[in-house]
Amino acid sequence: MYQTVFRQIQREYEIKRNKAIEDSEKRKKDLRMLYPEYTVLEENLNNFAIEQAKALITKGGIDKQVVEENLETKIKELNSAIEKFLVTRGMSKDYLKPRYECRKCNDTGVMQIDGIDKKCSCFVQKLVNITYKQSNMLKLKEENFNTFDTCFFSNVPNKEKYGSDKSPLENIENIKKIAIDFCNNIENPNQKSLLLIGNTGTGKTFMSNAIADRVISKGYTVLYQTAPVLMDMMLDSKIRGNKEEELRGKYEQIFDVDLLIIDDLGTETLNSMKFTELFNIINTRLLKNKKTIISTNLVLPELAEQYDARVMSRLIGNYIICKFFGEDIRLKKKMMEK
Ligand SMILES: Nc1ncnc2c1ncn2[C@@H]1O[C@H](COP(=O)(O)OP(=O)(O)O)[C@@H](O)[C@H]1O
Ligand SMILES: [Mg+2]
Ligand SMILES: [Zn+2]
Repeated sequence: MYQTVFRQIQREYEIKRNKAIEDSEKRKKDLRMLYPEYTVLEENLNNFAIEQAKALITKGGIDKQVVEENLETKIKELNSAIEKFLVTRGMSKDYLKPRYECRKCNDTGVMQIDGIDKKCSCFVQKLVNITYKQSNMLKLKEENFNTFDTCFFSNVPNKEKYGSDKSPLENIENIKKIAIDFCNNIENPNQKSLLLIGNTGTGKTFMSNAIADRVISKGYTVLYQTAPVLMDMMLDSKIRGNKEEELRGKYEQIFDVDLLIIDDLGTETLNSMKFTELFNIINTRLLKNKKTIISTNLVLPELAEQYDARVMSRLIGNYIICKFFGEDIRLKKKMMEK
């Protein structure tokens, strides 16, 4: 199954790439019809390219080098003449180039790093998405830093209610800063992971989604899962994964994705195997310098009561604790609708 998915994505990439090339050819064709002078430029370029190819095969020695260099200069000149032609007619200079979705791999799914082929992050993300069938990823269109709205957060502090001198507005703006910083430093070993604590409806999942959206657009891989589903999946992979490749793939991704988001920790039913697994995830990812976001409705003492000391010490030592507070935005939204 894992292999089938793999091949299916490779096939998709091939189609995407061919489509981008065909589209660019179509744009060239249209341009030829419209502007005879473009046709001349293009023909010149093609002729020189053919000559260059010939020179590569036939000549040798110093002579060859001179010829090649001359041709290369000429080709560069022609290319910039075409670019100039496009720009003066109101088109972008890249108008004729194939428009690949991913600029890192030109939709090949493969990137060269230090001369070694590596799966491009866009490819890995596709794998993650397909193997997990993540419905949550769909929410990223609605919940991101562009749709982030501070109108739901009061600017009046209420120490008695929230236990802070800050207003909910000040607080969320501060957390937003921490979150953006986190996105910018996702690979930095000094950057801590995030623990989002707060009552329901205070914006934890929204913030996680906004971070996911930003991090994905930077080209990293993200896996979002609620704690109950994640923990069940872990155990399932553990028990049956030796035999089934798909499950093994899933299991590995939990440790390998650049950002893992565990939402609603504390809502899963607990048993000792899950403790071990949770510790394993948190600890292994710390060692690999892979960032994690954990959100929970529990307060720290409740967390400490539910999870063992090893989990707690990892969280407290290596996570920035962001306390969300304010009115339940879900309720607020409902009231505003009425
Ligand atoms: N910063 C924000 N801007 C706009 N809407 C928000 C923001 N934060 C939360 N919401 C909305 O408020 C509701 C509850 O937020 P959510 O993140 O699900 O809370 P939590 O995960 O803490 O229970 C959701 O409908 C969400 O879209
Ligand atoms: Mg939530
Ligand atoms: Zn790519």
